[in-house]
Amino acid sequence: MQLDPARLLSLSKTVGTPFWLYCAKTLRKRIAEIKHLTGDGIQARFAMKACPATKVLREMQRAGIWIDAVSGNEILRALHAGQSKGQQPPSILYTSDVFRDNALQVILEQGILPNIGSAGMIEELSRAGYSGDVSIRINPGFGHGHVNSCDTGGPSSKHGVWFADLAQTAQRVEAAGMRVVMLHAHIGSGPRFEELHENLDRLASEFAALLPIFPHLQGVSLGGGIPHNYRDNTQQIPLDPLKTLFAKCRERLSEAAGREIRVEIEPGRYFVASACVLVGRVAEVKATQTNEKGQGATFAMVDAGFVDLVRPAMYGSYHGIEVIPHDGGARESQPIVVAGPLCESGDVFTRDDAELLVPRELPVPKSGDLLVLRDAGAYGYAMSSNYNSIGRAPQVWLEEDGSIELISRRESLADLLKAEVEEPIALGL
Ligand SMILES: Cc1ncc(COP(=O)(O)O)c(C=O)c1O
Repeated sequence: MQLDPARLLSLSKTVGTPFWLYCAKTLRKRIAEIKHLTGDGIQARFAMKACPATKVLREMQRAGIWIDAVSGNEILRALHAGQSKGQQPPSILYTSDVFRDNALQVILEQGILPNIGSAGMIEELSRAGYSGDVSIRINPGFGHGHVNSCDTGGPSSKHGVWFADLAQTAQRVEAAGMRVVMLHAHIGSGPRFEELHENLDRLASEFAALLPIFPHLQGVSLGGGIPHNYRDNTQQIPLDPLKTLFAKCRERLSEAAGREIRVEIEPGRYFVASACVLVGRVAEVKATQTNEKGQGATFAMVDAGFVDLVRPAMYGSYHGIEVIPHDGGARESQPIVVAGPLCESGDVFTRDDAELLVPRELPVPKSGDLLVLRDAGAYGYAMSSNYNSIGRAPQVWLEEDGSIELISRRESLADLLKAEVEEPIALGL
């Protein structure tokens, strides 16, 4: 995303800071890259948990990308954005470990394919009156996230049906009058591309071995996890080996089954990570005195915090940082810590999953400068919160022709109070 400093400064005056800025061109480039991997029995879904903005969902819908949703409301959001329902195979998949809130009702009413992660979920579907097709999420016994808390397969992962329990789960599905039409696994991105490749290849073999247990199988999903290079977004993994791998997987499964087996993928971050930045304003720069252990730091204090972008605080994730001087002047670089406004010591953007403070060599900003946190489009706005009663920051869209639109406004106190009842309601219990 190319940012024109003057425009960014004037935008910050119009919408206030912090704000999220999406770049349509970057998003469309990423969608085209994923589309290039599909066709010929290979279909992509967008794991919309990464970014549920209607504008983004509409881009997916226009490009023929289907949806992986995690809640009843995500399904409804996808439909609201124009995703079609009721088509075969269903263009919306529901993947969650537990049905909560309106999820069961929405699945039943809207004809969504449930991707179940435990045998108990079959019983729940059945009790709710569902007797259609299902997908089963399996825990293949291996997998690797970008950090431990993102491990999505293996003995320490809560996700999916353990592969040794699959035959029994298949019997329960049949006894409930349902059919398993899809098998699914999501093994996480892992830190190395070779690892992703090996894991996906292994997963394809696991699926092939399971074909006899699932005679109605129409498709398999290899999940998401295509990594994004946060440290240098100009250097990305080559996708062509994945194209070959997906095609081989489809061929292998279709041959083994004696009928066409669709292969699905469901990336989240790769679609959207680079398509959005979070822009904050520097309030001031201050320093602590270095003690005898050498601890001490220079802090650039910004108005964006982990209520906006929680990934660094939650996983120690790295985001590139850029300083935009408000007066066009030069700024000297030195190692600094970038921290937010919250009364939480962990409200720091320059950190990793082991150290709270990882000072980074950056131009030392001045009060009023803008600070841009790059590659914030995946699990950025989506994971932002109302902690400290700070309303969510506005989202702004930069179109390819240079026009800029507000796509969600800054949340006000009235938004935060909306679900609170003026007069407490007696529940008669
Ligand atoms: C089931 C499932 N599919 C897809 C994804 C998307 O993963 P990523 O954003 O790493 O591509 C996730 C992420 O948590 C997931 O849980």
